[in-house]
Amino acid sequence: MPGYITTFSYQAATCHAPQFAPRDFRRFRVTPATGAMGAEVEGVDLAHASDEAIRELEQALHDHLALMIRDQDLTPADQAAFARRLGAPVSWPYAKPMDGHPEITELIQEPGDKYAFGASWHSDSCNFERPPKYTMLYAVECPPVGGDTGFANQYLAWETLDETLKRRLEGVRCVNSSELAYGTASLEEDVQDHTATPIVYREEQFNEVLHPVCRTHPVTGRKALYTTSAFTARFEGETQEESLPLLRKLWAHAATPEFTCRLRWREGSLAIWDNRCCMHYAHSDYPGHRRHMRRIVIEGERPV
Ligand SMILES: [Fe+2]
Repeated sequence: MPGYITTFSYQAATCHAPQFAPRDFRRFRVTPATGAMGAEVEGVDLAHASDEAIRELEQALHDHLALMIRDQDLTPADQAAFARRLGAPVSWPYAKPMDGHPEITELIQEPGDKYAFGASWHSDSCNFERPPKYTMLYAVECPPVGGDTGFANQYLAWETLDETLKRRLEGVRCVNSSELAYGTASLEEDVQDHTATPIVYREEQFNEVLHPVCRTHPVTGRKALYTTSAFTARFEGETQEESLPLLRKLWAHAATPEFTCRLRWREGSLAIWDNRCCMHYAHSDYPGHRRHMRRIVIEGERPV
C-alpha cells in the first residue's frame, strides 16, 4: 500500500442552537436558513416598524447573525431612517457616496463587469478602530439567479478550534490593514477597469489597527474568531511571512461549510448582518446581468 499522509479531516457535527429553537416574535415570522446561522424574516414593514418590531429585529439578529428581510419598498431616505434606529450610520470613505445620502454607498454590478464587490470572505472594515457592528444591503435590482450572499458563523469557527490553538491565540492581536482590501488587489488595473464600484483609495488613507484575533460579542458575551484575508496582514510582533501559515489555516477553518449559510436575494429584500460574529461573501456568478444594492454600515465598538 502507498504510504500516503492524510490530507483532510472531517468536521465534527456542530450547530448554532438558536437555529433549532427560533423565538416566537410578535411582529414578524422568522425561518432559520441552516443549522449554522441566518434567517428569513417576513411580515414586517421596515419603513413603518414599531419600536417593539425594531427591538425584536435586533434580538433576531443576535440570535441568527444575519437576516434577509423580505418584501420591502424603501426609498434611500427610508433605508437611512431605519438604519438610524439601530445606531449611527458611518460614511465609508473608499467609494463615492450616493448623491444626497452621504451614509449610502451604491454597489452596482453592470452586465459587462468582471469582478463583483466583496467576492472574498471578510467582515466589513476591520481596519477601522471601531469597525461597523452591522451592515445592511437593500436590493434594488437583482439577477434572475445568482449573486447570493454567503455568511459564516465565527462563534462556531472559534469554538471548534482545538484547545491548544485556542490557548495559543487567546489575547493575541493582529494587524488589520487598509492596504490589503483597498490597496494591492483592489487597485490592480484589471480589477479597477472591470468593476462598476471603483475603490477610491489614496496613499494618505492608509491605516493599520490592532484587533484581537478572538473577540467577545458585547451583547451575547460569546467569543468569535475575528480575522480575514481581506484585512489581516500579520500577527502583532511577527512579519507577514511568519504569520501566514497559521493565518491561512484559520481562514480556511473560518469558512468551513458547516458554519455557513447562503441567502438568496429578491428585489425589495433587505439583508442585515452582525460583523462582530460573522463573515460574508458576495458570490460573483451572474456575468451578463445587472445587480444594484444600497449599502449602509452602522458604527460599532472597539473589538475586545
Ligand atoms: Fe462586505
